[in-house]
Amino acid sequence: MKPRTRLNHLPAPPLPPDNRPLVAPIHQSVKFSFDDVEQTRQLWAGRRDGYFYSRVSNPTLHQLELALAGLQGRDACLLTASGVAAISVALLGLLRAGDHVVHFAELYGPTRALVARLLGRYGVTSTLLTLADPDALERELAARQTRLVVLESPSNPILRVPDLARVTAAARRHGALTLLDNTLAGLHNHGGYDVDVFVHSLTKFASGHGDVMGGAVIARRELIDALREDAVNLGPTLDPHAAWLVLRGLKTYFLRWDAHCANARRVADFLAGRPEVSCVRYPGRPQDPGHALAASQMDGGGAVVSFDLAAGLEAGTRFAEALELFSITASLGSTESLVLPPALQQPRGLTPGQVQWTGIGPGTVRLSVGIEDPDDLIADLARALDRAGGAPC
Ligand SMILES: Cc1ncc(COP(=O)(O)O)c(C=O)c1O
Repeated sequence: MKPRTRLNHLPAPPLPPDNRPLVAPIHQSVKFSFDDVEQTRQLWAGRRDGYFYSRVSNPTLHQLELALAGLQGRDACLLTASGVAAISVALLGLLRAGDHVVHFAELYGPTRALVARLLGRYGVTSTLLTLADPDALERELAARQTRLVVLESPSNPILRVPDLARVTAAARRHGALTLLDNTLAGLHNHGGYDVDVFVHSLTKFASGHGDVMGGAVIARRELIDALREDAVNLGPTLDPHAAWLVLRGLKTYFLRWDAHCANARRVADFLAGRPEVSCVRYPGRPQDPGHALAASQMDGGGAVVSFDLAAGLEAGTRFAEALELFSITASLGSTESLVLPPALQQPRGLTPGQVQWTGIGPGTVRLSVGIEDPDDLIADLARALDRAGGAPC
């Protein structure tokens, strides 16, 4: 072979079968080949294992799918390039024109927009409720044939905790499926509930290091197989290198989760003692209205703490800008601490009544508490509250 041919037909380095790498390689290959056409046809027909094209499947993705499905207590998983892509794939695959969806004002904004605006254009109808009124959900399900209930627990950023046993039982009774965005609860929680479809942003706790985006839909195999048929045509595949980074992050998932929860609890307790702060929300705190449910439903309260600054929006901006260890940005569940001030999280596309349902006020601040030393985090928060000034509650 001449050099320019050889460079494109390099042999795989020989690896003896009894000599394995401790970290699985990244299968950074778009294509996989069999030597004979019939084997490819067998694979397409589902009559043999293997890989053909990475938009459909890839060994590195498959390893991550198995890990995530196992953590969530289901038997199948579909990976996507972001959390929002996971939500889109699940909604587009589960719903048809004429279907009705119940969703909630407290949900992540893009999820509400997907349900009401995008799916509305394709003939899917929806009703927006609040998680604070579980009876309203039961009334709606009784009044109207519903295909899907979309919820989050805890919700973002107000950390409402729906009663998952009650919601899933009501949905089942009325023939509706449930889709739970489990991002704030982490990957190992809520698997014991009768939830049909979990979605996660892997951008958060799974990778944990803020250097990769990804999403996952996790459910029983029959649902994932059906969703995958559409996903392959929609094309939101996760890249193998991103999947590998998430796999690497997962090795420390439980260590990070425990550290996030312990630090967030300390931060929430500290904030609750400050005169400028009202309404600290953290379901891991016994004083939180969602605590009893959260304690029975999930392990730990997660990384997100939210609270209101009595002095409102301007004080929120001053507070966020005065922080040194909390960076002003989106996202949550990374090792470093983050803050979202009120000016960056006012809900859009809702009526004033629905904005009230979200619980987000003019002084609402969201923190994602990282795994730094909690003494440093609390000193930083104290300093920023002193500098931000503002009226005590
Ligand atoms: C609850 C929730 N779901 C989904 C997402 C979307 O995830 P991604 O940014 O990976 O698309 C986010 C992002 O902040 C989120 O908070």
